[in-house]
Amino acid sequence: MCEREGFVVWFTGLSGSGKTTLAVELEQELRRRGLKYVQRLDGDVVRQDLTRDLGFSKEDRDENIRRVSFVASLLSKNGVATICSFISPYREARRNAREKCHNFIEVYVKCPMEVLIERDPKGLYKKALAGEIKNFTGIDDPYEEPENPEIVVETDKETVEESLAKILKYLEEMELIPPRVDDMEVARKV
Ligand code: ADX
Repeated sequence: MCEREGFVVWFTGLSGSGKTTLAVELEQELRRRGLKYVQRLDGDVVRQDLTRDLGFSKEDRDENIRRVSFVASLLSKNGVATICSFISPYREARRNAREKCHNFIEVYVKCPMEVLIERDPKGLYKKALAGEIKNFTGIDDPYEEPENPEIVVETDKETVEESLAKILKYLEEMELIPPRVDDMEVARKV
């Protein structure tokens, strides 16, 4: 039986930048390519369970990322394609996650603040700007941009498909995922 290596695709970026959208699309595509063991971990979901005791202070965000990286490390070491989407605003916490996980791939989901304020799907920027939510990342709380991410996607300039293609290409080049089914069919016919 052909065992695949596990990995972690770690999406970091501001709220509303497109992390969850890309993570969901990536999960679907990996399953289409026949990967059996795929697990997605999302900030809004994990915070309802594993980290529901935590808020948004630096200490709590670091603890959030510490617990999630522990789970991601176990999954990735056991052959699971793990997809994490967390703001994860602090470099040090992301560095710790990288050290623990097997095949850690950091994807910076980049989007300018004016676009995020315009998008505002959860209405959170409006509240943060009105002072109704304190310590909101990018408004009155820090976001430390990745210095050396494996991949940068710019969601104000690229379509979801374009951003996804960058990530899939990287995973293919690292031989962590098989090529597209269509490509394999074409190759078989030649
Ligand atoms: S992290 O900073 O600890 O990595 P995480 O990704 O788990 O954050 O959760 C972010 C989500 O929590 C946001 O998408 C948003 O829906 C919600 N949220 C609530 N309060 C805040 C806040 N002060 N700053 C950022 N996100 C917040």
